[in-house]
Amino acid sequence: MRKPIIAGNWKMNKVIPEAIELVNGFKRALADISEVDIVICPTYMALSEIGDMLTESNIALGAQNIFWEPKGAYTGEISADMLKDAGCEYVIIGHSERRAYFGETNETVNKRLKCALAAGLTPIVCVGERLDEREAEKTFDVVGDHVTNGLAGLSNDEAKKTIIAYEPVWAIGTGRTATPQQAEEVHKFIREELAKIFGKDTADLMRIQYGGSVKPDNIKELISEPDIDGALVGGASLKVDSFSEIVKISAQCSAKQ
Ligand code: PGA
Repeated sequence: MRKPIIAGNWKMNKVIPEAIELVNGFKRALADISEVDIVICPTYMALSEIGDMLTESNIALGAQNIFWEPKGAYTGEISADMLKDAGCEYVIIGHSERRAYFGETNETVNKRLKCALAAGLTPIVCVGERLDEREAEKTFDVVGDHVTNGLAGLSNDEAKKTIIAYEPVWAIGTGRTATPQQAEEVHKFIREELAKIFGKDTADLMRIQYGGSVKPDNIKELISEPDIDGALVGGASLKVDSFSEIVKISAQCSAKQ
């Protein structure tokens, strides 16, 4: 069985004192949860401080990006060693905002992914179509391309460690969530694509999160779908109540299975 994973992507939000307050709230609210993996991805600025706060807790630390070179003259970039030094275990790769605003491509996603895996970080690779692509009925082409080229050259063992986040771009930050059926249709497709590349046994072990306006009132239906193994949460991860509620509902759903 795949253990659900709920990750909070804080994006460019929260200065350090705000981040500390939020994490104290999560620690209090979520101390008893063991049925789901919990990850929070603050800004780079807060990683070290939050990493210290999360030591020996049931909440893991993740970063929002990684650069593939180990060190050197790459102004503004951050390396795997730096992330690990701050206490990171996870890293988000290829978020649609990085693809849209910062020139991220499947090729750069693939480089970051291989670097993260080599460093022992667990990657969360984001895939998903834009609204115009969905309307042009290109969803499966785009998502298939993100999966096949983003994950190109991975061994089966590396694939098993990789988490995919299906995030339809039109559902991110818009309040417009994909219906559970729309999401499941693409999740199932992703698993079939993964099975073509890595074989069914590996594909069945890989976790696929849904992301895009996940809230306490829609998580239950989403996570109850057979191929949805958790959520990557943006806006709702910036408040103690909403993120904790999402985690707790996921834990209840998983305990019932
Ligand atoms: P959202 O963001 O939950 O605010 O829609 C999700 C994401 O971008 O990961």
